[in-house]
Amino acid sequence: MDRKRLEIILSELEKVITESIDGDIVELGCYTGTTSLFIRRLLDSLKSDRSFHAYDSFAGLPAKTIEDASVAGSDFKGGELKASKRDLVRNFKKAGLRPPIIHKAWFNELKPYDLPDVIAFAFIDSDFYRSIIDSLNLVWPRLAQGGVVIVDDFMRSHLPGATRAVNDFFRDKQVKVKHHGNLALIYKNS
Ligand SMILES: C[S@@+](CC[C@H](N)C(=O)[O-])C[C@H]1O[C@@H](n2cnc3c(N)ncnc32)[C@H](O)[C@@H]1O
Repeated sequence: MDRKRLEIILSELEKVITESIDGDIVELGCYTGTTSLFIRRLLDSLKSDRSFHAYDSFAGLPAKTIEDASVAGSDFKGGELKASKRDLVRNFKKAGLRPPIIHKAWFNELKPYDLPDVIAFAFIDSDFYRSIIDSLNLVWPRLAQGGVVIVDDFMRSHLPGATRAVNDFFRDKQVKVKHHGNLALIYKNS
């Protein structure tokens, strides 16, 4: 996660908190928690008591589908980016921070009740087409008015499934997809 992307993610999170947008915070695809740690630090510094939920298979990426095919992205394959739940908790402990509410599951096996009823801010960093579509299907119906969902790897040639997933998911919805570098930002009712 580079600095510019992190700054955008954190400034969008700060906005939903300071503007009192209703709902909790979720990250789908948390891996070892690099971004999760920054999210937690910001919530703490804003004295926010919103719940923070982090989701991952903790078994790495699933198999690619045709939408993800890319010569540039041949390094990204099923089983890569595998971290354990214990690794994530350990990183929070090392940093002296309270871990998020952790959900170990494949996204297509999550049930609606595994997510907060209302979401103010969602960061989706799950790399592949199907994973991002599954994440958006879970998050979008629960996103509060004025809430934001950020999808990583948009317009990134290594991971073409990310752009396809965002474009396919929002094609028939009345929203504008903004992008800053490789982040897609979508606001509910903007
Ligand atoms: C790029 S990493 C996330 C990086 C993390 N957000 C960070 O900032 O360090 C992608 C993660 O998504 C998870 N993932 C991808 N597709 C998934 C799926 N369908 N179900 C569950 N986890 C998935 C992988 O296990 C991996 O840990």
